[in-house]
Amino acid sequence: MAFMEPFRIKMVAHLADITKEERVEALHRRHYNPLQLSDQEINFDLWTDSGAAAMSHQQWAAMLQAHEGSINPDSFDKFEDTIRSITGFPYVFPVHQGRAAEHLLFSMYSKPGLAIFSNTMYSTGKTLANVLGASQKDLPCKRVRGEFFNGNIDCERLEQELSESDIAIVVLTVTSNHQAGQPVSMANIRRTSEICRRYRIPLFMDGCRFEENAYFIKIREKSYGDMSARAIALEMCSYFDGMYLSAKKDAMCSIGGCFATKLLDLREKFDEMVETFEGRRRYGGMAARDLDAVAIGLTEGIEDRYLKYRIESLSTFGDILKKAGVPIVEPVGSAIYINAARCLPHIPTEQYPAWALHCALYIEGGIRCNYLDDALKFDDSNERENPQPHHFLRICLPRRAYTLSHMLHIGEVFEKLLAKRERISGIRIVQRCIGMSKMLLEPVNASLIDIN
Ligand SMILES: Cc1ncc(COP(=O)(O)O)c(C=O)c1O
Repeated sequence: MAFMEPFRIKMVAHLADITKEERVEALHRRHYNPLQLSDQEINFDLWTDSGAAAMSHQQWAAMLQAHEGSINPDSFDKFEDTIRSITGFPYVFPVHQGRAAEHLLFSMYSKPGLAIFSNTMYSTGKTLANVLGASQKDLPCKRVRGEFFNGNIDCERLEQELSESDIAIVVLTVTSNHQAGQPVSMANIRRTSEICRRYRIPLFMDGCRFEENAYFIKIREKSYGDMSARAIALEMCSYFDGMYLSAKKDAMCSIGGCFATKLLDLREKFDEMVETFEGRRRYGGMAARDLDAVAIGLTEGIEDRYLKYRIESLSTFGDILKKAGVPIVEPVGSAIYINAARCLPHIPTEQYPAWALHCALYIEGGIRCNYLDDALKFDDSNERENPQPHHFLRICLPRRAYTLSHMLHIGEVFEKLLAKRERISGIRIVQRCIGMSKMLLEPVNASLIDIN
């Protein structure tokens, strides 16, 4: 356990002051759906890393100084310069979130009969492609235990699809959410780019976590150890025609996004689309203050010192959980994935072991995490006969927000829970709804867990 936070804490947000008895009551009131709990009822909110980072004093200071209401905000120049210099893409467009960039890009390429291929596409991109009449298909690599880059796309299948289907674009999501947050290697990016060029198919990056991916390449891929993450990110981007990102992840902001490209014809189309759907060309859907926060956040987020802390804090958190007896997907990527079915082997699939574990974690420690909103796209050889997405819980680590002692405390919560795992009840659905946050549930036994 060697990582150190490369910052001092200047402003604090208090953890909720709520007892275990009060949490039992709160969860009962919320129909055993932790996604319905209010912020004041949560101690450790680990359900997402999106929009949850602690911003730096440089970000806050720049936000206060930004000039709002300008048709030509200076903040855009800083935003554009930063993204140009980190990615190498000359044409840069601000948008209000990652999905707004997806919307503009996909609406230019998606047509009935065409397909968008990806290692794994984020859920908003999937829905959007379908709404626009295109088909969307994921081609994740086969997961290999101990392999460092399980976020890769399967290049053989991609090549085969390219020779057989009508394809609009290829998107590589780095790191890859639906492959347990695993990174994509430079070798895989280079090969994908070479295949796409041969078939004249544009290649884009969903770069929400591209800075973290660059650091994974630095520490896991041969011959990149001596390069800075910044230089690696620049090389990564050089293999793509363009990228989009949500500034709520690696850029450590509460809102924002961008699209950037080297394609001149896309520049002209984006000029028009951003003005029509987002806002004026030089602020997109963002306030000037948000443009400043993104520029500084991306710059802080690509520093090796910060990324060393970020990646080591994730792997240390994984080690703490493993030590507590929690089965996790290894090596840890941009988030921690817990095999809840193996944590609670007495709970059958139809009684939702991940949901039961989530409820128990909340009662024991005030912890909220997340389910997978889509099938987990990898095999787990230890998984039961038919791997079920609802067997997994995802723990995200908001950037710069939680300390080592929080992680050690959460490890102790897991240890306590696992010691009495047989007493955790399965869950049944009382009312099924579209969207997990609206579902109503209850424990199969009289109580979910005894609280002693
Ligand atoms: C990989 C990936 N792509 C796209 C998005 C969409 O970004 P936003 O939430 O800013 O619209 C997300 C959000 O979590 C994501 O994780």
